[in-house]
Amino acid sequence: MKLWAGRFSKEIDDRVNDFNSSISFDARMFHQDILGSIAHATMLGEENIIDPSESAAIIKGLQSILEDLESGKLSFDPTAEDIHMFVEAELTARIGDAGKRLHTARSRNDQVALDIRLYLRDEIDAISSQIKMLLGTLCDQAQQHIHTVMPGYTHLQRAQPITFGHHLMAYAQMLLRDLDRLQDTRRRMNVMPLGSCALAGTTYPLNRQRVAQLLEFDSVTLNSLDGVSDRDFCIELASAISILMMHLSRLSEEMILWCSWEFKFIELDDAFATGSSIMPQKKNPDVSELVRGKTGRVYGDLMTLLSMMKNLPLAYNKDMQEDKEAIFDAVDTVKLCLKTVIPMLDTMKVLPQNMRKAAAKGFINATDAADYLVRKGLPFRDAYKITGTLVAQCIAQDTTLEELPLLQYQQLCPLFEADVYEAINLEKCVSGRTVIGGPAPQRVLEQIEAVRRALGQ
Ligand code: ARG
Repeated sequence: MKLWAGRFSKEIDDRVNDFNSSISFDARMFHQDILGSIAHATMLGEENIIDPSESAAIIKGLQSILEDLESGKLSFDPTAEDIHMFVEAELTARIGDAGKRLHTARSRNDQVALDIRLYLRDEIDAISSQIKMLLGTLCDQAQQHIHTVMPGYTHLQRAQPITFGHHLMAYAQMLLRDLDRLQDTRRRMNVMPLGSCALAGTTYPLNRQRVAQLLEFDSVTLNSLDGVSDRDFCIELASAISILMMHLSRLSEEMILWCSWEFKFIELDDAFATGSSIMPQKKNPDVSELVRGKTGRVYGDLMTLLSMMKNLPLAYNKDMQEDKEAIFDAVDTVKLCLKTVIPMLDTMKVLPQNMRKAAAKGFINATDAADYLVRKGLPFRDAYKITGTLVAQCIAQDTTLEELPLLQYQQLCPLFEADVYEAINLEKCVSGRTVIGGPAPQRVLEQIEAVRRALGQ
């Protein structure tokens, strides 16, 4: 029998019951649902809205349900409409009439809004600590490679010399912004909606601030319609996670390239790669490929949420029940990805010699040759043209700027002297880029230290 049975003369059709039910996916919020109810019951008792002895009985009953769910002694009823109905029905079954008073001055509409906020708040904290771990791993790897010269790319063409440490620390900056976005999302999420009730608030003298305090919210929602119909916090979180996944996906794409025979800049630990069922030589970067693939899935979750909300009239509509599977999937997916990516990065073997070899080809010191002439007084445009011609000659002769004889340099421009070879030495090119944010080892060390400081490490 449904809790709403009074108004109805028939039992619900089984097909509608199944279609309508959300317990299969909202049961995971049981902890939050019960803690929210305990806070509500506490306040109702304190304000004498219900008898304090009944409040105490409700709290005791809810605590026993929580324990039994956690221990597995009690299992969810798959035919229940949702987690809220399930807990309330179980409470009344356990403590009798007092249980029926729990829902005083509350609706499932504000209850579910509360539960999701509580649930996602914890998830933001979990994701944030994973990001911090990843940042720590990036810093450790980067520190070992502040002198490891590699080609930096634009258009996936070798462009200018950098170090592997510098490259990794670029991802650290992205992840710091991700952390910041998550904290920002958390701040706006941390507002307590109970008291909005179905949509129009209540005539009971609730102490909303007290409930907020018991549940560690910063403040209470200020419009009852908005309190029950706002899902911005889900969309913001899905958006922050989408951006985070985009960063992980870019890193994955690079890892896949770096693992290839064409690059061979890194080698994955055997425990973090897979083989082929037919080609005995293969070692595949499946983890990175899956992260890249799952990024699309998380974008899909964000689109689900945005589309679900775009034309809903105020206030609550059942469409909003669809929020949970989408946001839970986004959260589960990013946590799964981070959990695997961190040890994979931690155990990867970096191959500095291959990076150095790749850096030696591709004229990535051409800008430095031009800058050399600028230091000798030539305008940059002229210097650029001369160096371009030198590169063309090198290509024709199948040689490099390092190996080109001085005479050939001087034929094009008499300003070239023997010290040009030092100016285009790759290690020098890197260590000379001492601008703030640049790849010079000292600057990269500073980046690492700044990230560690931001993490409190
Ligand atoms: N299971 C519902 C949801 O997830 C709870 C709120 C139901 N409210 C209602 N008026 N039917 O959205």
